Amino acid sequence: MTDQEPPRDAFATRAVHAGLTPDPSFRSVIPAIHQTSTYAQRRPGEFVGDYDYARTANPTRTALEQAIGDLEGGLAVVFASGLAAEHAVITAVCGAGSHMVLPADLYGGTFRLVDKVLSGWGLDYDLVDQTDLAALERAVGANTKLIWVESPTNPSLNLIDIEGVIARRRDALVAVDNTFATPANQRPLERGADIVVHSTTKYLGGHSDVVGGAVITRRPELHERMRFVQNAVGAVPGPFDCFLVHRGLRTLHLRMDAHARSASAIVELLRAMPEVRDVRWPGFSGMVSFHHPRAASVATRTRLFTLAESLGGVESLIEVPQLMTHQSVEGSDAAVPADLVRLSCGVEDPDDLVADLRQALA
Ligand SMILES: Cc1ncc(COP(=O)(O)O)c(C=O)c1O
Repeated sequence: MTDQEPPRDAFATRAVHAGLTPDPSFRSVIPAIHQTSTYAQRRPGEFVGDYDYARTANPTRTALEQAIGDLEGGLAVVFASGLAAEHAVITAVCGAGSHMVLPADLYGGTFRLVDKVLSGWGLDYDLVDQTDLAALERAVGANTKLIWVESPTNPSLNLIDIEGVIARRRDALVAVDNTFATPANQRPLERGADIVVHSTTKYLGGHSDVVGGAVITRRPELHERMRFVQNAVGAVPGPFDCFLVHRGLRTLHLRMDAHARSASAIVELLRAMPEVRDVRWPGFSGMVSFHHPRAASVATRTRLFTLAESLGGVESLIEVPQLMTHQSVEGSDAAVPADLVRLSCGVEDPDDLVADLRQALA
């Protein structure tokens, strides 16, 4: 084998190889985890690349950034959490007096960040049902600097017409939270979006053992600005967390196929159950939602689906958004109904998952 880069055309090949070159010292196939806070300088100011201090840069983080950038088709910066990534994007793009458009159906933490933290610094926002492009167009004004898109949305799993949003953006940048879809299913930068955001805690990490975030863009000046904000604010992920996300990425394509197989079997069951209504699944990934009059009781009766917040790991999770992930939107226009149940279908045997949910619904 030569040291040349392997062919990177297909997504699966890139998922396995992106960001990974054998360690130059010992030829270990997986490079060492650079668990360090600083780097020895030969003379004052003389260091390798931008590796002077580990808040600024770390090789394990760089490797993950290369991999995520490769899969999304842009330049990536990774963060300590999805919300840290969101905070960096919003504060890099918006300032006091700016206006932002948020989806009316969105992750509760995103709403809390804007409504409870950033609005105190002068950021104005509107919640808009982005399945209604005319409403979106009306909400975008001269001060609108950023349109935030989730597709599929969390928790209602609506798909948004990303090109339709871009066509109505005026001078605003369009950021897409691609956490639910992942680049295995949807690559917003290829469709004209300016920014992609991830909670890598979810499908990219894929094993419910790490919290992280990422921002990806094709605009070099925005990438530089993100790196600047990251270093200035300091919400960096640790090297071991970067390693874990990177390891997860290598099976993303396989896991996403298996998640979809599980979700498809679960949806078939749900559509046949008497008290279940409005079953939603975007047709890819493992996220399914439905309404049930006794949502909380169903969620406490599963044995294989663990009652827990979060999503995207290999194990199946069940939750009631109103009582769990979306408490921060209670009382706002983004509030979610009490009878909504959200599933993150894992990669267990679909028959076992179906049997578990059937007994919980019985
Ligand atoms: C769609 C979406 N975006 C962002 C986040 C925030 O990510 P994190 O929990 O890694 O901060 C979440 C968390 O659940 C999410 O579901």
